[in-house]
Amino acid sequence: MNNSLKMLFDEHEIITRAVEIAKNAKSLIGKNDEEYEITISELIRFFRVYADQYHHHKEEEILFPEMAKKNELLAEGIINEMFDNHNYFRELIRDIELDLEQQNYSEASEKIDEYTEALLDHIAVENEELFQTAYGIFTEDELENIYYRFIDLDRELGETKKMEFTDLLKLLDKQQPVE
Ligand SMILES: [Fe+2]
Ligand SMILES: [Fe+2]
Repeated sequence: MNNSLKMLFDEHEIITRAVEIAKNAKSLIGKNDEEYEITISELIRFFRVYADQYHHHKEEEILFPEMAKKNELLAEGIINEMFDNHNYFRELIRDIELDLEQQNYSEASEKIDEYTEALLDHIAVENEELFQTAYGIFTEDELENIYYRFIDLDRELGETKKMEFTDLLKLLDKQQPVE
């Protein structure tokens, strides 16, 4: 796979790990509510910063517009759908945060299930469909150029900060309750 698409693909893998942690956190409700609240707040931070700022912005500001320039039908179809999905994820995260603030854990947990399922579907469509299409419509040079723009975006946001999120997941993973 090309560097630029591989970078998005690898970020999907990390986001998928966070999804697993979010799904498992449910078992803390009623047993250790404080731990549940801390875990979900940290995950909200991860989804907002890593998944949204670092990842979705690469797609929204760089990949999708470049794909749309190449093909109008793509712009109106799958790319439009991917934008809608990203907005829906942002809304859900805001709702989950509100539920958490009001200690409505069961509602938070239901929305987290909705969020994680939708996010996994979204990632599957991108991995299996969108990236193949991108690979087909761009030249090697264009893909290389996209890759450098991705790196620039990470630099702007902070590469160290990006790595700290991977460490955060490792930490949360260790704290997962054993069933
Ligand atoms: Fe996306
Ligand atoms: Fe993505």
